[in-house]
Amino acid sequence: MAWFRGFSWAITLVTVVLNVYIYTYPSFTPGKCSWNHSYEDGSDLIGERVRNIPYFGDLYKTFFVKESSEKLPQPRDIRMMAFGDPQINGNWPSTPYIKRLDNFGNDYYLGHIYRVMKSRLHPTHVVGLGDLFSSQWIADSEFYNRTRRYMTRLFPRPQEQTFAELDFIAMHKDVDWVSHLEWFQRSLADGVFLRPEFYHYENVYDWSSANLTHEPLFINVSGNHDIGYGDTTYQHMARWRRLFGKDNYWIEFDNDTDHPWRIVVLNSLALDGPLLQPEFKDYTWQFIETLKQRSYHGSSILLTHIPMYKPEGLCVDGPLVEYFNEKNCHPGGEYRIGLLKSENHLQYDTSQAVMNAIFKGNYSGIIVTGHDHEGCENYYNYNFTSGEWHASKSIDSPKYIKEATVRSMMGDFDGNTGLITGHFNHDTKSWEFNYKSCPFVVQHVWWVAQIGIVLSIMLHSINFLL
Ligand SMILES: *[C@@H]1O[C@H](CO)[C@@H](O)[C@H](O)[C@H]1NC(C)=O
Ligand SMILES: *[C@@H]1O[C@H](CO)[C@@H](O)[C@H](O)[C@H]1NC(C)=O
Ligand SMILES: *[C@@H]1O[C@H](CO)[C@@H](O)[C@H](O)[C@H]1NC(C)=O
Ligand SMILES: *[C@@H]1O[C@H](CO)[C@@H](O)[C@H](O)[C@H]1NC(C)=O
Ligand SMILES: *[C@@H]1O[C@H](CO)[C@@H](O)[C@H](O)[C@H]1NC(C)=O
Ligand SMILES: *[C@@H]1O[C@H](CO)[C@@H](O)[C@H](O)[C@H]1NC(C)=O
Ligand SMILES: *[C@@H]1O[C@H](CO)[C@@H](O)[C@H](O)[C@H]1NC(C)=O
Repeated sequence: MAWFRGFSWAITLVTVVLNVYIYTYPSFTPGKCSWNHSYEDGSDLIGERVRNIPYFGDLYKTFFVKESSEKLPQPRDIRMMAFGDPQINGNWPSTPYIKRLDNFGNDYYLGHIYRVMKSRLHPTHVVGLGDLFSSQWIADSEFYNRTRRYMTRLFPRPQEQTFAELDFIAMHKDVDWVSHLEWFQRSLADGVFLRPEFYHYENVYDWSSANLTHEPLFINVSGNHDIGYGDTTYQHMARWRRLFGKDNYWIEFDNDTDHPWRIVVLNSLALDGPLLQPEFKDYTWQFIETLKQRSYHGSSILLTHIPMYKPEGLCVDGPLVEYFNEKNCHPGGEYRIGLLKSENHLQYDTSQAVMNAIFKGNYSGIIVTGHDHEGCENYYNYNFTSGEWHASKSIDSPKYIKEATVRSMMGDFDGNTGLITGHFNHDTKSWEFNYKSCPFVVQHVWWVAQIGIVLSIMLHSINFLL
């Protein structure tokens, strides 16, 4: 049985190589998979030599070199990890077992990306850019179950930060959207959504009272598959807000320093319409108006699901907008006819209004979006004469904002992670933003690495028994 033993060892060797690969993949493309600035100690000569060896040098750096606390700048860099469109599927009674296994494995494939990237790069912020789920047309029970998977398998976080949501999910009661409707309509009538206090947060490092300041701040952005477009209902919004928080808000950091900056989270699904609940559009535009009225003297990071308008040719997705009609409505969904069904970009005027409200003054900024799956990078150049923003591949104006459309983290798009570094330049007194896109690999490689482990154990057990 020598051939069988040889075969077992061959399988084992392949398995080991694949597993080493999947746990160290960023080291193959360290340029794309690191923050824009790093602050390691680099004084000793041997260390310097080792670091220049491809792959192994990066492994050495990752596992043996710590950032030197003396070299770390003040203020600390913003290190934000952004994940686009995981779009996890669910299982129905009719789902075949092989597809169920695929869904199960896919959760851990996506979770693997997060675990590897988080332990490598220790982000200060983690952003889920929307389309967490594959469909907005699911009942509460399924929404809860997918949220639990999202929280425990894809993006596991300390229990102190998640127990409230997980306890709510465990109760498994349909969301009380009627009370939510009453609260919303009363608030809208009372002008609550016109008040900055409703959206305002300051220096948040942990949403939970546990104050785990070493953990990244987790930020949720609503996507069309989470809450819908024109078809968004109170039920969608009630359960989103219950488990993922507000859809529109800002967090201002370091306000009383020379380096203020803020994060703006925007629900871009309710800006264009027409909507089933037009009051959602009123409320979202009240948020934009509140931003516009607010004087802010610092840099802004806009996090939203749908990219800004841009002409054909700059990204894979060109401008496209669709409305529900007789042909594309499911039976029973006729009430949707005429509503916004989907769009690739925000409409032109909407995009201008959003950028004008947020990026006022000569301050730097960046827009981070998801939605298009392929990923894309552009600059919005401001024309001081016309007061308009023009999308371009190049920087053509002293005032410009980069838009990074983050490539999807799905296996078919190679399990991508978006990395945003913000670095404060003391000479120009300005935050400088940099975007990188770090690829993993198609999900099959991850699967083979897992199956290899099982197979190796089986083969060696057989060898042992014979
Ligand atoms: C969600 O999970 C619970 C058990 O955790 C189960 O009873 C329920 O049927 C699931 N919902 C759906 C729609 O599959
Ligand atoms: C949270 O912890 C930080 C130090 O890690 C401390 O400076 C801060 O005051 C704490 N905040 C609260 C609300 O306890
Ligand atoms: C974001 O979503 C997670 C669930 O994935 C939740 O634990 C967290 O509280 C949400 N954040 C906010 C600000 O509500
Ligand atoms: C931000 O800080 C400035 C200066 O310290 C202060 O005047 C302003 O009111 C602050 N703004 C907010 C919204 O806290
Ligand atoms: C902003 O920059 C433009 C172009 O460099 C300049 O013309 C304008 O005066 C600046 N505005 C302010 C308020 O500094
Ligand atoms: C800026 O806008 C003005 C007025 O619309 C136009 O004449 C000019 O060509 C624009 N500049 C650039 C660089 O596009
Ligand atoms: C950081 O990013 C800026 C702008 O993208 C770039 O010019 C610079 O070279 C980068 N710095 C490093 C250390 O890579």
